[in-house]
Amino acid sequence: MAKQRIQAVRGMNDLLPEQTPAWQAVEALLRDLAQGYGYAEIRLPIVEKTELFRRSIGEVTDIVEKEMYTFEDRNGERLTLRPEGTAGCVRACIQHGLLHTPGRRLWYLGPMFRHERPQKGRYRQFHQFGVEAFGLPGPDIDAEQILMTARLWQRLGLEGLRLEINSLGSPEARRDYRRLLVDYLRGHYQRLDEDSRRRLETNPLRILDSKHPEVQEVVAGAPRLLDHLDAESRAHFETLLALLREAGVDYHVNPRLVRGLDYYTRTVFEWTTDRLGAQGTVCAGGRYDGLVAYLGGPPTPAVGFALGLERLLALLEASGRLPETEAPHAYLVLAGEGTDRAGLALAERLRSAVPGLRLVVNAGGGSFKAQFKRADRSGAAWAIVLGEGELASGTLGFKPLRGEGEQETLDEATLVARLHQVVHSGPA
Ligand code: HAM
Repeated sequence: MAKQRIQAVRGMNDLLPEQTPAWQAVEALLRDLAQGYGYAEIRLPIVEKTELFRRSIGEVTDIVEKEMYTFEDRNGERLTLRPEGTAGCVRACIQHGLLHTPGRRLWYLGPMFRHERPQKGRYRQFHQFGVEAFGLPGPDIDAEQILMTARLWQRLGLEGLRLEINSLGSPEARRDYRRLLVDYLRGHYQRLDEDSRRRLETNPLRILDSKHPEVQEVVAGAPRLLDHLDAESRAHFETLLALLREAGVDYHVNPRLVRGLDYYTRTVFEWTTDRLGAQGTVCAGGRYDGLVAYLGGPPTPAVGFALGLERLLALLEASGRLPETEAPHAYLVLAGEGTDRAGLALAERLRSAVPGLRLVVNAGGGSFKAQFKRADRSGAAWAIVLGEGELASGTLGFKPLRGEGEQETLDEATLVARLHQVVHSGPA
C-alpha cells in the first residue's frame, strides 16, 4: 500500500529556492530602510500568553474571536502563536524598561499566524515587517513613518499604491461618537445584515467597513467620526495632512477606515493596491497612544505599521519588479584523474582570493559534456575548467557560458584577476 504523503498545513507556505532570493533582496532593503530612519531591530518570541493578545487587540475583534492559534502547553498555560507584532513588541518594551528612553524606534520581521480562510494574498502563516516608535506624541513621527513607506515603494519601483488615512480621535471622542453611530444604525436595523447586527452590540465601529452592499448604503448616511473629533485629535490630523502635502505624498481621507484591531487612537492608515484582487492592503498601521499604559507600562504614546511580505512580493511580481536572482559567477568543471581533490583545494583558494565570489564546484563526477550542462543550468556566467591536461600544466580553462567566446587558458593568478573583474563589474 502506498504511504500517504504528508502535505504542509493549509495556508502555510514553503518558500522555495527560486523564491528566496527575491525575499532576501526585499528583506535586505527593508533592513536598510529601517536603519536609514534610525530604527533598531527587536526579535520577539513567536509564542506569547494568550492574554496579551486578548487585551491588546481586543476581545471583540475577528482576530481574537476566531483567528488565533491558541493551545495549552504541557503546564496548562494558554499560549497563542502571534497574530501580529505590536502586542509582543509593547510587552517586551515594558518588560525590559525600554521606554525610559523616549523616542525609541524599533523594527521587526517574521512570521505571524491567523486562522483565516486562505486565498490569494491571505494565508495562515504570513510574514510582516513592522516598525513601532514610542514616546513621540506629535504628528511628525506619523508623517515620517508614512514617508518611510513611500520611499520603500519608490526604491522597489512600485507605482499606484494608494494611501488611505483617517483619524479615530481620542477614546472619549470615540465613545461619544459610538453612541451617535449606534443610535443612527438602530434606526436602520432592518437593513443590517446579521454580522452587523451582532457588531451593533459589540464593536459598532467595525460596521463602517462592512463589505455588505446594503450595509454600505446605510453607512454612507451615517454620522462621521471625523466630524466629531476632539480638538487635539483634529489639530493632530490636520498637521499630519499638511506635512504629507508638503512632502508631496498623495493621500485619500477615508472616514470609514477603522482597522480591525482595537488599540488604535487618532491616526490610522492603509496602503492599498488594486493589482492583488480582494487582498489589496499591503501595509497598515496607526497610532496607539493608550496601549502601553493599558498593558501596565508607563503612559507612552506610540505609532507603527506593518506590511505583509507575501502581498509585497506578489505586487512586485505583478508589476514586473521582482528582484533578480543572483546566479553563481562561476562553475568549476572537474574531469579526469586527481581533479576532484585538486579542484576542492583550488575552489577554496579562489574563494579566499576573491571575496564575494559565488562559485559552484561540480560534485558527483560526470563527463565534460554532462558537467557543462550542469554549469549551464546553474545559471553561472563562467565555467572554470580543470581537466587532466590543465592539472599537468598548472593552468585552468576559463570559458564564458552566456553568449559567444572561446575557452582561454590561464594561470591561477590571472584567473584570480579575471574573477575579481567578474565579481566587481558583473558578468563580463
Ligand atoms: P494588520 O492590518 O492586521 O495590522 O496587518 C498588517 C498587514 O499584514 C496587512 O496590511 C497585510 O499586508 C498583512 N496581513 C495581515 N493578515 C494577513 C494574512 N492573513 N495573510 C497575508 N498577509 C496578511 C497589524 O498587524 C498591526 N500590528 C500593524 C501595526 C503595527 N499597527 C501599529 N503598529
